[in-house]
Amino acid sequence: MATPDSDKRCVIWFGKPGTREKVMLAADGWQLRAVLPQQPAEIGMRGGDVVVGLIDFRNSSDSELERIEKLTAEHRHMPLFAITGDNQAPHPLLAACLQQFPHPPDLKELLHHLQALAGPSATPVADEALDTLLGESEVMLVMRATLRKFAPVDLPVLITGETGTGKEAAAHALHRLSPRHVKPFQAVNCGAIPATLVQSELFGHERGAFTGATSRRQGLFETAHTGTVFLDEVGDLPLDAQTSLLRVLQEGTLERVGSNQPIRVDVRILAATHVDLERAVEEGRFRRDLYYRLNVLRLPMPPLRKRDGDIDLLARHFLADFRSRHRIRARGYSSEARQAMARFQWPGNVRELLNRVQRAAITAEGELISCADLELAGNGAANRNQLEHVRTHAEREALLSYLQQSRYNISACARLMKVSRVTIYRLCRKHQLELGTLR
Ligand SMILES: Nc1ncnc2c1ncn2[C@@H]1O[C@H](COP(=O)(O)OP(=O)(O)OP(=O)(O)O)[C@@H](O)[C@H]1O
Ligand SMILES: [Mg+2]
Repeated sequence: MATPDSDKRCVIWFGKPGTREKVMLAADGWQLRAVLPQQPAEIGMRGGDVVVGLIDFRNSSDSELERIEKLTAEHRHMPLFAITGDNQAPHPLLAACLQQFPHPPDLKELLHHLQALAGPSATPVADEALDTLLGESEVMLVMRATLRKFAPVDLPVLITGETGTGKEAAAHALHRLSPRHVKPFQAVNCGAIPATLVQSELFGHERGAFTGATSRRQGLFETAHTGTVFLDEVGDLPLDAQTSLLRVLQEGTLERVGSNQPIRVDVRILAATHVDLERAVEEGRFRRDLYYRLNVLRLPMPPLRKRDGDIDLLARHFLADFRSRHRIRARGYSSEARQAMARFQWPGNVRELLNRVQRAAITAEGELISCADLELAGNGAANRNQLEHVRTHAEREALLSYLQQSRYNISACARLMKVSRVTIYRLCRKHQLELGTLR
């Protein structure tokens, strides 16, 4: 079966790539081979592979460049790009490069050029599959690179992460990037099926197997044969269904409810959970052997608050997407709204951001969406809260000090503070100061 990624795409980096350069290439499906000019290197290529050379002029000495020149001369057909340093001196090698990217290189632009070289047939499916997992933060680049690595391997993947982080979107992408992408993808939320029906939903039943089973029915695993099954909220699977699932994983067979005839199924299993499965195992709610089987490859989805810069990117994307489908006035965010979004903790992650943006897009009266439209506390509110906090603290300290000076005598303290005795009592209540204990 052809994988969308079956033709390898490789960048030979002459020099030493940085961390971000490495993860960006990997997230876009490029393999990276760093060739250090001072070390002996052979550049091997297989037919069908797309191999591009990238010469990093930034830290390469003249003698190193000489060696690179020799190496690349042996592969004249290999397209070359260059990353040039500050005040780059002219060099004959530069003339051989299709494109030069001055330091610091615009990596998006570089990837765009690489993509163009790889040709239109190399990745459209692959790139589309990841369209639902946007983000340029390092954690997201690493996640996408991991996802690309896991996709072609026929092993189970356990997708973990808080609610709304994109676990289901990741499962779809894994399937679409896998050799099974032309085969069925069947998703089921294990927590949404009544416990009594789980076995029959997943593994099917024979006619008469239980009251109401008027005909034979195939279960989800049989329908997904040769494709992928996505078990969402796998932690909610009842114990008897866990046993049947373990059998599918170990032996590749299942039995319909009401039959003891084993049926062979070929499915790849993806599972997601937002509960701590290890704890469920400790508490006896989840089979340990099943956990080990499912947990071969693990894909953790990072919470939105940990994705540096992505909140802004996603907020703009969701708004632009909404605008393309609805007639709305809002076309951007006020700077206060953007700051508020960056500060917010997003317990509901990407889904919450999407919902807030859509609601705000509808309710906003102006062209810029405000904090109020997003139902987030603005800077003003935050400052006011802080000021209030400082004031309260100062008031309590002052009251305590006057009370000490007046030896906790209310009348004396009221005279010192030039307020009524009633006010002193009120302030003591407000700041939870027990006169009895203080004295
Ligand atoms: N990185 C992303 N870029 C764009 N859209 C995203 C991204 N991550 C998630 N979404 C969108 O956010 C919504 C929630 O994603 P999804 O349903 O995959 O999350 P989940 O982790 O399965 O949530 P839950 O735990 O609640 O089931 C979907 O509409 C999805 O398309
Ligand atoms: Mg989900």
